[in-house]
Amino acid sequence: MYLKHLELKNFRNYRKLTLDFSEQVNIIYGKNAQGKTNLLESIALLCLGKPVRAKKDFDLIKWEEEYCFCRGYFQESDYDLQIEIGIGTKEKRIKVNGQIVKNNSIFGRIPIVVFSPDDLQIVKGAPQLRRDFIDVYLAQIDPNYRFVYYAFYKVLQQRNRLLKQGFVNPEELDAWNEQLVEKGTKVIRYRISLINEVKPFIAEAQHVISGAKEDLDLEYLSFNGQKLPEDEEVIKNAFGEELQNLKGTELRRGVTLVGPHRDDLRLIINQKIELKNFGSQGQQRTAALALKLGLIEKIKEARGLNPLILLDDVMSEFDDQRKQHLLQLLISSSQTFLTSTSKQDFPINNQHTIFFLVEQGEIDHVQY
Ligand SMILES: Nc1ncnc2c1ncn2[C@@H]1O[C@H](COP(=O)(O)OP(=O)(O)OP(=O)(O)O)[C@@H](O)[C@H]1O
Ligand SMILES: [Mg+2]
Repeated sequence: MYLKHLELKNFRNYRKLTLDFSEQVNIIYGKNAQGKTNLLESIALLCLGKPVRAKKDFDLIKWEEEYCFCRGYFQESDYDLQIEIGIGTKEKRIKVNGQIVKNNSIFGRIPIVVFSPDDLQIVKGAPQLRRDFIDVYLAQIDPNYRFVYYAFYKVLQQRNRLLKQGFVNPEELDAWNEQLVEKGTKVIRYRISLINEVKPFIAEAQHVISGAKEDLDLEYLSFNGQKLPEDEEVIKNAFGEELQNLKGTELRRGVTLVGPHRDDLRLIINQKIELKNFGSQGQQRTAALALKLGLIEKIKEARGLNPLILLDDVMSEFDDQRKQHLLQLLISSSQTFLTSTSKQDFPINNQHTIFFLVEQGEIDHVQY
């Protein structure tokens, strides 16, 4: 899959923009605060149907304007896809090939992997960030996952509402517990299965980038740090037990404390070092990159499509050798968009690469 052509109107700091991209490498460079990240954000919006960076859709509208609009022409070997997204202060409208579709229906249609300096937080930050990371990519790998997660989420919300009331009818709580275990177990199984499948790809990426110095292992942890097999009965039993253990606390605090919404992903280097607390900066950065590189491979395998790859400001952190290596790894088959403040970050020059210079929301100078 690749993005041939992009049009923007009132999107962030772009008043009007029309661009044609290379099928392979697109390098977007320019000084700070010119619109490099904003451009990538518009591409991600077309693939996911919702913003990756902005909290609200309307944050994407150019200041002082009332709406914004993005249109992308995508191409796969045997078909085209035109996606249009219009956002007003109160509403959003999405069209696929000219037909209005539900706002949440385009998520994952065009797979995309976004790298940004914030990725380090997936390794270092709160468990929520690791869960979000798993969920976003799981939904792109298996579109069915979103429905599985949503079914759990609805039960979670209703159970929380019940707990918050203060007075809880034990029979009603039992009924919700059953639902929570049922739906939550499905989510956990999906996640464990994904982690098991991507583990070798991610380990391979870490191995290569670290110059064969590091092995990276991933463990999905449920219910206060338990590592469980991908077995429905085992997960259900552990879930039920933990609900019993925390029953008093849940009633006191009025919130659901057990379930996939509290789980975590542990990253371990060289069999014993927990990366979050004991890894070096370099090891953590490499792992943040490896996680996503591994997913690219998994997406290709599961979807039979090459995802678009967006790298925001990631190259500057690596030495020339690693840069070359990383570029080679990425550019092999997917369409790639890279941003940097320096053109020198990219020691490449061939007919498949287009350089774009961004200045104050305008891309007026294109150099081949
Ligand atoms: N909704 C908006 N309307 C207009 N301008 C905006 C909007 N949101 C952000 N901007 C501005 O757009 C400019 C470019 O932002 P962007 O994040 O794309 O910069 P960048 O080129 O990636 O810079 P850096 O190299 O520092 O990462 C910034 O000055 C930012 O404040
Ligand atoms: Mg930026």
